[in-house]
Amino acid sequence: MDRDSVLAQTAEYARTTLQGDVSGHDWWHVYRVWRSALYIARREQADLFVVQLAALLHDIADWKFHGGDHTVGPRVAGEWLTSLRVEESVVAHVSDIVSHISFRGAGVPSLMTSAEGRVVQDADRLDAIGAVGIARAFAYGGYKGRPLYTPAAAPGLHQSGSGATIDHFYEKLLHLKDLMNTETGKALATERHAFMQQFLARFFAEWDGVATRQ
Ligand code: ADP
Ligand code: NI
Repeated sequence: MDRDSVLAQTAEYARTTLQGDVSGHDWWHVYRVWRSALYIARREQADLFVVQLAALLHDIADWKFHGGDHTVGPRVAGEWLTSLRVEESVVAHVSDIVSHISFRGAGVPSLMTSAEGRVVQDADRLDAIGAVGIARAFAYGGYKGRPLYTPAAAPGLHQSGSGATIDHFYEKLLHLKDLMNTETGKALATERHAFMQQFLARFFAEWDGVATRQ
């Protein structure tokens, strides 16, 4: 099968598998990661075939929804590509990227060693920040039944430790800009990061309602 057909069939497979997901891994997330990864890959001289396949398959079976089993995603991705008779070296590379894509906490070093993996990881992270990233965070919080925000006891401390969605910005989203692997990714992240900061400033300014004038 030629490469264009492999890509088209893989996109269709991801679309039908992830359609209707409301946990932040829906098809449109994958579609954006695919497009952003292609954009970054072209500027970073990464292999476009591997990058696109890894982007399309990166959330095919997210470990959080498979009992914490990190091996399901890479296995499902590998089985899919093998069924399309994709060459073994590409299957191995894509599976490896899928297994290393997840955020493992601020300060945990990335195990993403190939240029292609770093590109896909950047594209995935970009979709967690900016306007879409904000929307995804609140959608995920609603899906989990979490409050938007819980004001903390100390003034100026926005992180409450209550699992509110605003906490997630301080635990993860505001760190992503500094974790970008590529120069292209960093430039894109800088702009989205600034927008998130503006959003948070407005959010806190509006939180207590409009003050009554005496
Ligand atoms: P990825 O697509 O990088 O695998 P995750 O699985 O970590 O991302 O999360 C999917 C989406 O849900 C992201 O936009 C992320 O910010 C959001 N999300 C994950 N955990 C939380 C949380 N505790 N609170 C709010 N949003 C979250
Ligand atoms: Ni993702």
